[in-house]
Amino acid sequence: MVNEYEIKKEICDIGKRIYNRGMVASNDGNISVKLNDHEFLCTPTGVSKGFMTPEFICKVDENGNVLQANKGFKPSSEIKMHMRVYKERPDVQSVVHAHPMYATAFAIAGIPLTQPIMPEAVIALGCVPIAEYGTPSTEEIPNAVSKYLQHFDAVLLENHGALAYSDSLLSAYHKMESVEFYAQLLFLSRQLGGPKELSKQQVERLYEIRRKFGMKGKHPADLCPNAKAGLPSCHTCGGNCGGNCASSSAAASDGDLVAEITKKVMKELGL
Ligand code: 13P
Repeated sequence: MVNEYEIKKEICDIGKRIYNRGMVASNDGNISVKLNDHEFLCTPTGVSKGFMTPEFICKVDENGNVLQANKGFKPSSEIKMHMRVYKERPDVQSVVHAHPMYATAFAIAGIPLTQPIMPEAVIALGCVPIAEYGTPSTEEIPNAVSKYLQHFDAVLLENHGALAYSDSLLSAYHKMESVEFYAQLLFLSRQLGGPKELSKQQVERLYEIRRKFGMKGKHPADLCPNAKAGLPSCHTCGGNCGGNCASSSAAASDGDLVAEITKKVMKELGL
C-alpha cells in the first residue's frame, strides 16, 4: 500500500527543488502524482511550490474533482492538463509543470528543441516539440498537448513553459531538468557561433542503444516504423512518420540506464 504522507513529503521536496533551481518564480508551477486510477495528489493553486508542507497537498479524482483538501487550499488551476496526461498515458505516474528560464525562452521564441547536440539529451528526450499556445486553466492546453503525448515524455508549452511526465515523480522531475539543461546548452552554443550537431549516423547509433536497452517511456527513437524494421529512423520527424510507437517494458530505472548508456556512448564516440 502506498504511504500517502510520504508521497506528499516527496512532492514538497520536488517543489523545493524546482523553486530553488529557478525553474519557477513566485507561485508558478504544479506537480501531481497518481495513487491509483481514481485518486491523485496535486499541489494547491496559488502557493509557492518552494515552501509547501504535506498539509498543502490536495487529493482529486480522475476528473480533477476535489476528494480532499485542507481549509484554504484548492487544487492547481492546471489540473485538467495533468489529468489529460494520465488519461492518455496510462504508464505515467507523475506530472511536473514548470517555467524553467531557458526552456521557456525557447517556448516563447517558438523554437522547439530539435538539434541533436549531446548524447544524453538525444537518449533521454530525443527532441522536445512545442504544443500550441492555450489559455492556462482551460481545455486549450490539454488539447494542444494531447497530440504529442504518444510520442514524447516532455513538451514545451508555447509562450508558457514546459511539461514533463514519467513513471515516477523523481523521473518526471529529472526529465524537466534534462529539458532545461538541453535548452541552456542549445542557447549557449548558439551564442558561441552555433552548435556542432551530431551527425545522422551518430544520432542513429544513440537511438539504437536506447532501443537495445529497452528504455521506458515514449521517444522519437520508437516513432518511426523504420526503427522496428531495423532501418535508419529520423530525429525530427515529430510524429509525422506514422507514429507507430513501440513502447518498451524494461524494468531498470531511467537514471541507471542513462548513466550506463552515456558511458558506452562516450566510449563509442571516442570522447
Ligand atoms: P497553480 O498555482 O494554479 O498550479 O498555477 C501555477 C502555474 O504555473 C500556472 O501555469
